[in-house]
Amino acid sequence: MIKRSFLSALAILGMASAVAVAADTPASLMAQYAKQAGVPVSALSAPRGAALYRTEHPGRDGQAVSCAGCHTANPTQAGRSRVGKRIEPLAPAANPQRFTDAAKVEKWFRRNCQDVLQRECSAQEKGDFIAWLSQAR
Ligand code: HEC
Repeated sequence: MIKRSFLSALAILGMASAVAVAADTPASLMAQYAKQAGVPVSALSAPRGAALYRTEHPGRDGQAVSCAGCHTANPTQAGRSRVGKRIEPLAPAANPQRFTDAAKVEKWFRRNCQDVLQRECSAQEKGDFIAWLSQAR
């Protein structure tokens, strides 16, 4: 019993520090990317985000690659990396950790957009992408 309440106290502390470090939200990141793109948040487009997610591009080895290739057709489901490692769902509805840490989000946008599009994503594309994932259920 004592052990259990100690563990739950630890869990609460852990959550509190996670919240303190990760102050970003999908909405605050969308606002940030819209600002960078010089458009109002209302100009971000979930359908454009979905298209970015699904569209296949020729990969370096000739095989088609897309965001959905690793994150699966349904972003509320867990995906797989190319080496078969589990990737937690990308949609915040299924994984509340998503889009709560701007540095992490930027790191993976840079890496994955390079990988799939062979260029970085624009601020507008990043905003569209989060707009779409935010409403994925
Ligand atoms: C080769 C596999 C792969 C592909 C293709 C891929 N991703 Fe990812 N993505 C990952 C992995 C691995 C992570 C990091 C592990 C994790 O966070 O679960 C990740 C994490 C992310 C994150 C971090 C989100 C957060 O808040 O935690 C974003 C944003 C992201 N990917 C966007 C994209 C976009 C946009 C595309 C398509 C242009 C894409 N990914 C394609 C493997 C992939």
